[in-house]
Amino acid sequence: MRKLESKVAIITGGASGVGNGIAKAFVKEGAKVVIVDYNEETGNQAIEELKLIGPESIFIHADLADFSTHSKIVSRTIDVFGQLDILVNNAQASRVKPFMEITPADLELPFKTGFFPTFFLMQQAFPYLKETQGHIINFASGAGINGDLNQAAYAASKEAVRGLSRVVANEFGPHGIKVNVICPFANSPGVQQWAQHMPEHFEETLSKIPMRRVGDVEDDIGRAVVFFASDDSNYITGQTLMVDGGGCRL
Ligand SMILES: NC(=O)c1ccc[n+]([C@@H]2O[C@H](COP(=O)([O-])OP(=O)(O)OC[C@H]3O[C@@H](n4cnc5c(N)ncnc54)[C@H](O)[C@@H]3O)[C@@H](O)[C@H]2O)c1
Repeated sequence: MRKLESKVAIITGGASGVGNGIAKAFVKEGAKVVIVDYNEETGNQAIEELKLIGPESIFIHADLADFSTHSKIVSRTIDVFGQLDILVNNAQASRVKPFMEITPADLELPFKTGFFPTFFLMQQAFPYLKETQGHIINFASGAGINGDLNQAAYAASKEAVRGLSRVVANEFGPHGIKVNVICPFANSPGVQQWAQHMPEHFEETLSKIPMRRVGDVEDDIGRAVVFFASDDSNYITGQTLMVDGGGCRL
């Protein structure tokens, strides 16, 4: 029996990077996946690839910074599949800048694309996840825990996601819904760009990671998310798991 057989999962930012690795890992475990992304081209490519593994997945083209999309994402999922078992809040955009150069728009970006969609999608998904005793997996970052330079807006939004997740885990726990957080380190397009543009900083970061490698979006991160999305983690909630080769300790 596959671990996510017949389960229905929404994965935001599922068109590329970590979200796409999660989508592949989920479909291989039998899930029907709804990938949500504002990049239509990569979204369509991703769904074609996913359909080769499992034919039932769908792509919803939506900009999560437009809050009117949140209820539509959940209602379309229910219209198509009739249930929701797993919500993965993975999408996020941000800009890397020294603290003193951050503008109001820079500060707003990670909150509008990451924190607020995480908040509102959990509200929208609640009645359906209650029915299935489902799982929520939110994404944070070692950048927030370590206080990485030039990441003030991003770090603040990610630590806000962790605080929010602990509260919602407490409120949703009596309804059987589990809420956990993953902090990854993985070879997404975003990290590949960083490695290209700042090779010295990237190598220095890598040298401090006990595993001495960048994680794979599917085999390393996707598999850990399968654990949090499956019955194997039914007695775990409100926790943060570092899936980063040991780079950051809580
Ligand atoms: N890759 C890492 O090493 C790493 C490290 C720490 C935390 N994270 C976190 O893990 C998650 C995934 O990271 P990643 O590296 O794959 O990111 P990424 O930037 O490579 O991919 C993000 C995906 O989300 C989509 N997206 C962004 N904003 C959106 C919006 N407003 N509406 C719809 N879709 C949107 C993008 O199109 C893209 O497909 C993020 O929350 C990120 O902050 C990643």
